Amino acid sequence: MADSLRGMEIVVAGGSGGLGSAAVRMLAAEGARPVIGYRANRERAEALAALGPIVQADLAIAADRARLLDAAPSLYGLAVFCGNPARVASPDALEEALRLSHEVNFLGPTMLAREAAARMRDAGTPGSIVLVSTMQAVSVFPGSTAYACAKTALIQAARILAKECRGESIRVNVVCPGVNRAGMAEASIASGKYDRYLNEGIVPRFGQAQDVARAVRFFLEPDSYVTGQVLTVDGGLTL
Ligand SMILES: NC(=O)c1ccc[n+]([C@@H]2O[C@H](COP(=O)([O-])OP(=O)(O)OC[C@H]3O[C@@H](n4cnc5c(N)ncnc54)[C@H](OP(=O)(O)O)[C@@H]3O)[C@@H](O)[C@H]2O)c1
Repeated sequence: MADSLRGMEIVVAGGSGGLGSAAVRMLAAEGARPVIGYRANRERAEALAALGPIVQADLAIAADRARLLDAAPSLYGLAVFCGNPARVASPDALEEALRLSHEVNFLGPTMLAREAAARMRDAGTPGSIVLVSTMQAVSVFPGSTAYACAKTALIQAARILAKECRGESIRVNVVCPGVNRAGMAEASIASGKYDRYLNEGIVPRFGQAQDVARAVRFFLEPDSYVTGQVLTVDGGLTL
């Protein structure tokens, strides 16, 4: 696998984030050509500018998605890390959080994946698409309606796209991270919210961004025979 992604163009949407940046670094270290997408935090994205072009794109906006894909004219891969925890401070805030989560965690990533697949199909080249969901989409966590339901829908959208792409050498898979010391879970870990998972021996440690990056990288392997699959990377937490 060491050299198999050399020179390959891979759009990493949300590549500036805590988990996405580890994937960008891993891909760049292998000689791949990541295109790094971000929405608003330019400073975070610029820290990675030496590794590939950085492109501002809000996935909820069609023109932005097109601009992001345009930055990779020989597109081979797409990894979509964009997401929002859609936290709900009070019951009154649920409806708004559902709308936000639908847009950021489902609609944007789903449309981008489908648009990337269409470009791969038009180019007649093989491609690999990896969507990042969450363990909360495959297991039941009270209080997670807004975040988890959109992420569960994302899994089904990925599987449908994978089936639509059968026979075309375009593969679509999903990674479901657990609790990682990076990105959106970092502050919750620091607050002690997840300490019981360690104290009760449920996980041996919290996840690291590299754990997720390795799983994404697995699905990006060019000669892979794997499609339509969901890989949970949570140290066994949801068992
Ligand atoms: N960290 C964890 O432990 C964990 C656990 C399970 C699942 N996940 C999932 O893993 C993915 C990455 O999370 P993370 O922890 O790395 O979060 P993060 O550090 O907050 O990064 C999120 C990334 O998504 C981008 N983004 C957000 N909304 C966007 C939009 N509308 N359009 C385009 N880009 C957008 C952000 O760009 P800006 O910063 O510029 O806005 C950033 O690059 C998410 O899908 C998350 O749900 C994370």
